[in-house]
Amino acid sequence: MARMARALVPVAMAAALLLVATVFMEGAAAATYTVGAPDGLWDMQTDYAQWVKTKTFHPGDKITFTYSAELHDVVEVSRAGYEGCSSANNISASRTGNDVVALTAVGTRYFLCGLTGHCDSGMKIRVDVVVAASAAPGPAAASGPASSSASSSAPLSCIIAGGVVAALHLMQHAVVARPFWW
Ligand SMILES: *[C@@H]1O[C@H](CO)[C@@H](O)[C@H](O)[C@H]1NC(C)=O
Repeated sequence: MARMARALVPVAMAAALLLVATVFMEGAAAATYTVGAPDGLWDMQTDYAQWVKTKTFHPGDKITFTYSAELHDVVEVSRAGYEGCSSANNISASRTGNDVVALTAVGTRYFLCGLTGHCDSGMKIRVDVVVAASAAPGPAAASGPASSSASSSAPLSCIIAGGVVAALHLMQHAVVARPFWW
């Protein structure tokens, strides 16, 4: 029994290492999305609620607003600003025509075009940033109708979670069963 448990230790360790490597690699796979692309951009025509539905944003990803700086700008606002189309109490504003925003943490970010009437015409976007390698939606993602909680990495995260549990079981078993001199 002890011998068998001992033989399993390297297997468990290898499995744990592989899992750590897998998690690390997935975490490093940050993506950059051009808002509205490929069918639109940061403009008055694109349906942003529809656009975000096809994406899952994780910390480390970036979104790029590409537009004509003569026509639009990008203002990050609070939820209240987003709902009321007000950029008065904004978080930040930029107007380069190619504004890159880093999605650094889990949570919801709101952006709109601050030019008169543009937000009211639908030029605003809500971005839910959810935990990487998790089937659970982020806390903010569960709070609204426009949430995009469909996670493409759910199956992988289940495999990883299962693997970690199995590896821990094996290691724990090996520790309990080992003789006193080992
Ligand atoms: C952003 O807010 C500042 C005040 O904090 C204001 O002066 C500025 O006009 C606002 N920008 C836009 C685009 O509304």
